Amino acid sequence: MPASVDEAPRTPLLTQAEGLNALRHLADELAELRRAGLLRAPPAAAAPAGMLVLCSNDYLGYAGLPCSAGDGVSSGAGASRLVSGNHEAHLMAEGAIAAWLEMEAALLFSSGYAANVGTLAALARPGDVIVSDALNHASIIDGCRLSGAAVEVVRHLDLEAAERALVRAQSARRRWVVTESLFSMDGDTPDLRRLRELCDRHDAALMVDEAHALGICGPRGTGLCAESGVRPDVLVGTLGKSLGLHGAFVAGSATLRTYLWNRARSFVFSTGISPVVALAAVDRVRRAAADDAGRARLAMATGRLRSGLRALGAPLLPGSSGPILPWILESAGAAVEMSQRLAREGVLVQAIRPPTVPTGTSRLRITASASLSETDVERALAGFREAMR
Ligand SMILES: Cc1ncc(COP(=O)(O)O)c(C=O)c1O
Repeated sequence: MPASVDEAPRTPLLTQAEGLNALRHLADELAELRRAGLLRAPPAAAAPAGMLVLCSNDYLGYAGLPCSAGDGVSSGAGASRLVSGNHEAHLMAEGAIAAWLEMEAALLFSSGYAANVGTLAALARPGDVIVSDALNHASIIDGCRLSGAAVEVVRHLDLEAAERALVRAQSARRRWVVTESLFSMDGDTPDLRRLRELCDRHDAALMVDEAHALGICGPRGTGLCAESGVRPDVLVGTLGKSLGLHGAFVAGSATLRTYLWNRARSFVFSTGISPVVALAAVDRVRRAAADDAGRARLAMATGRLRSGLRALGAPLLPGSSGPILPWILESAGAAVEMSQRLAREGVLVQAIRPPTVPTGTSRLRITASASLSETDVERALAGFREAMR
C-alpha cells in the first residue's frame, strides 16, 4: 500500500495515436452552428450584481432562498429508491404534493425532463397513438419517441386537429393526449376543459405538464387544471421552477404511482433525489400554497412589464398571458443582438433560438418574477427603451 497518493505508481496514459482525432467532426459541427448564429455559449456562472434577470422560471422568487435541511437528513439518497434509496423525506414530499394538488398520489423524479421521458415511455407503447401539441417541450417529444407509439403531432392549441387525430386512432391499442398547461415558450394555454371532454369522448388518457403553471396559477397555486376544474389522468410538475428547487414529480392515482415506480426507467434506474431537496420541497409546497401575496406581486410585475413593453412597441405574442412574455424577433441574429443590447443596459434576457423554438420564431422570452420590485420593473423598462433605440 503506498503511503500517499503521490507515491502510488501511475499507469502510463494511453492516448489516441498521433494524428488521429476520433472527435474531429465536433469542431466542424460547432463551426456550422456558429455560422448559423445558433452557437450557445454558457453565460457567466451567475448574473453580475445589479443585473436584472428577466429570463428565469423563478416566478415566485424562491430560488435564492436558503434551503434549511433538518438535522440528520441525508444529503444523498445513496441508491435508486427501489434499492436502498427510499427516504422518509421522499415520502413526506410526495404526500405534501399529493395533498396540495388534491391527487391520490405523487412520485418524485430527478427532473422534469426525466419525469416526462420516463412517464411517457412507461405508459405508451407500440400500437398506441399519442396526440401531442406541436409546441410541447423537448422532454415530452423525447418521451413520445422513446415509447414507440405512433405520434400525431397536432397544430398548437388546435382542438379540432386533436379530435381528428383521435378519430383516426380509433383502432389503436390505446390513445393518449399530452399537452403543457402554460406553454413554456409561448406563454399560452389550451382549453383544458374541452381537451378533457375530447379525451373522454374518444377513450383517451390526458397527460398535462403543469411545469410553468404550478405555484402561480389556480387556487393556492395548484395550477391551470385546478383553475379550470379539470382532473388530468397524469399531471407532471417540477420543483425547479416556481418552487425554486430541483427535481419533479408525477401526480395521479395510487395505481399510476405504483406503475411508474415499477416501469418508469428514468425513475427505476436512477438515484433517488436528494432527501435534503425532498424535505425542502415539503416546505416550498406549503409556502407556495399560502403565498397569495407572492402571486399578487407576480401579477403586478407581469401587468406592468406587459403594458410597458407594448407601449414601447414590442410585439408580444398575442395569445400569451401570465409571466411568460415572448417577443418574437424571427431571426436568431436579431434575437441575439437585442439580448446583447439589453445586457449592456443591465437586463439579462437570453435569446431563445432553434431548436428550442421553431425556425423563424427566435425570440426573447421575457419572464416576470415576484422578486422584482416596482423600481426593478421600471429600470428594466428603461433598459428596453434604450436597447430598442
Ligand atoms: C414544460 C416543461 N416540462 C418539463 C421541463 C423540464 O423540467 P426540468 O428543468 O426539471 O428538467 C421544462 C423545463 O424547462 C419545461 O418547460
